[in-house]
Amino acid sequence: MTKLRNYPTKDPVLVTCGLPYASGQMHIGHLRTYVPADVFVRLLKKMQVDVAFVCGSDTHGTPVLTAAEAAGVSPKELYTKYHQFYLETFPKLHINFDNYGTTNDPENVTRTIQIVKELQKNGYVYPKDLDSPYCDNEGRSLPDRYVRGECPYCHADARGDECDQGCGRYLEPGEILNPRCAICGSPTRTVTRTHYYFKLSSFEEFLKKYLNDVDGTKIAKNYALGWVNEGLKDWCITRDLDWGIKYPGDESLTLYVWVDAPIHYMSSTEQWAKKIKKPDEWKKFWLPGNGRLVHFIGQDIVYHHCLFWPAMLKGSNYNLPFAIVASGMVKIRNHNFSRSRGYVVWILDDYLNRGLDPDYLRYYMVSFTGHTRDLDFSFTAFAEKVNTELVGTIGNFIYRTLHFTKNHFGSIPKGKFDEKLQKEVENSIETIIDAVNEYELKKVSDEILRLASVGNEYFQANQPWALVKEDKARCGDVLFNAVALVKAITIFIDAIMPNTAETIWKQLGFKGPEVHGLPLEAALEPLKVGTKIINPQPVISKIDDDLLESLKKIIDNRIKAAEKAESGEEPVEEKEMITFDDFKKLDLRAGKILTCERVPKKDKLLHLEVDIGTEKRSIITGLADQYEPEELIGMTALFLTNLEPKKIGGIESHGMIIAVEKGDQPGRWLPVKLDDVPPGSKAA
Ligand code: 2FM
Ligand code: ZN
Repeated sequence: MTKLRNYPTKDPVLVTCGLPYASGQMHIGHLRTYVPADVFVRLLKKMQVDVAFVCGSDTHGTPVLTAAEAAGVSPKELYTKYHQFYLETFPKLHINFDNYGTTNDPENVTRTIQIVKELQKNGYVYPKDLDSPYCDNEGRSLPDRYVRGECPYCHADARGDECDQGCGRYLEPGEILNPRCAICGSPTRTVTRTHYYFKLSSFEEFLKKYLNDVDGTKIAKNYALGWVNEGLKDWCITRDLDWGIKYPGDESLTLYVWVDAPIHYMSSTEQWAKKIKKPDEWKKFWLPGNGRLVHFIGQDIVYHHCLFWPAMLKGSNYNLPFAIVASGMVKIRNHNFSRSRGYVVWILDDYLNRGLDPDYLRYYMVSFTGHTRDLDFSFTAFAEKVNTELVGTIGNFIYRTLHFTKNHFGSIPKGKFDEKLQKEVENSIETIIDAVNEYELKKVSDEILRLASVGNEYFQANQPWALVKEDKARCGDVLFNAVALVKAITIFIDAIMPNTAETIWKQLGFKGPEVHGLPLEAALEPLKVGTKIINPQPVISKIDDDLLESLKKIIDNRIKAAEKAESGEEPVEEKEMITFDDFKKLDLRAGKILTCERVPKKDKLLHLEVDIGTEKRSIITGLADQYEPEELIGMTALFLTNLEPKKIGGIESHGMIIAVEKGDQPGRWLPVKLDDVPPGSKAA
């Protein structure tokens, strides 16, 4: 297959992203695919390629069903809430899909049924009895995520349809070893019923050839070829569930979520075509022809996109994906991201709602490591990149150039674009086009950083601050060139940091959003002499040290809690942040325990009389299983004295003793003892 090297190409490109399950909030792990895909689309536009970008919410299957059950709502209520959330959150990250639908939309139901019927008609679907797990406790059959067991390939603990903690393979129903119910944990028994299978095995030869030719990242095609070479099993495409698209031919079954999910790539394109009032426009991508389909996905769903999906498209006579671009995964302290296990960094709570700029996260996602490598997320590494690369190199060059030009000339001075610098910009354009062709967008951010360094060196070497006094015309020429580099950097960085690019563009005297429409070659034309520089300000700012420290702490505690929970220990409760004023409300004082007695018929309670300096208080504490009353009498300890009075065990308690649970002996509480402190002494 030809590459996108013919620049500009006339072939239209449809870019898609793996659909997020509408079952929970968005986290930073999601961005490993969406940000590079969005940058890719923006660059294609700058290469004047006709491109559309679609995605949608995945609303079916056991991921949505189990989340709805846990939340006590219907699957429709659950997906509607999260679909809305994704719809609103993507634009906040400047990820702008041309259409974002759901797999439950009528267009997707109709298209799914059409494709399945076509596969049936072409002889690719057949019925077969399947032995699958059933839980007597729960009184239900257990498809996919309702069952856990041992992966037959790598023996890790796995989900029913995916070895999520081991080799990552797709697992067929009935394949998992030693199945147990994921709800109650009990072993399952087997029930047999007729299901429907897709003849994936008959596509082996086709897939070998197709995967050899397909464009995209090597990891995607190489993994997939490995699986084909091992021999493919036929694929069970129905499930014994109520939620989903009904199987045409047996309405008591629903289609497996991985049938209708990728079909939404097509129906989302149909929705987009309707929206732009060209209802046939979707056909240019999906009917055989020269439209190019480019799927951006996470590495964990290569099997589905490289095997099931091309075989389904082939079997129903649609266009095949031109490229499958699989990204590495996001990890945190070497753990795979997992909402359920607590290894997670949230987009809203941990990032956007703290006032952090989405453009910085986009830059970090693209530039931190190669597209196919895993990215171990850390706020420290994030801040370092922002502070050194974005602020120290790129922002610094832009600000010093515009500020100096404004101060000494007010507008773009007369000058001639230096041949060497022009060559640098030409090289940058070439490198960016290569990066798009290689689906390696880190090359783009690296190139922008390089060009900014070229700019800084040029500025430093020519010393405009000295020239302005000695030879103003020559100084003007240097600044003309420096601004030409700022312009080029702005056009390039627009793909990664669109909001920042708008701000710079305004400082260059234009309407900000216009920068999005500029092709890469516009970077070769310097700005017109006399163009006014408007109010130059630093466009990128350092990550605040206090904010960074508090984010690091939050994530640290979260990971420690998750690790503890996994090792079987009690999780450390992560409490909400309080203000300094909240803290100041606590009246903590030394109190001397004057008397201590057991509370009749209450095994755990002790009744204390405490001298808190100003008065004597009656305070109840739950330490009776740990201390004899005599051990506490005479002790001075720390008390919270302005806690509202409450009756405990029938006795009024006005205050609370502060005690610490021994970390190595859970359940063992030690009062905070204060030696040589008179009662009433205040703590702060
Ligand atoms: O793995 C997932 O999160 C799926 N919701 C991805 C679906 S991608 C596509 F095929 F629709
Ligand atoms: Zn495995």
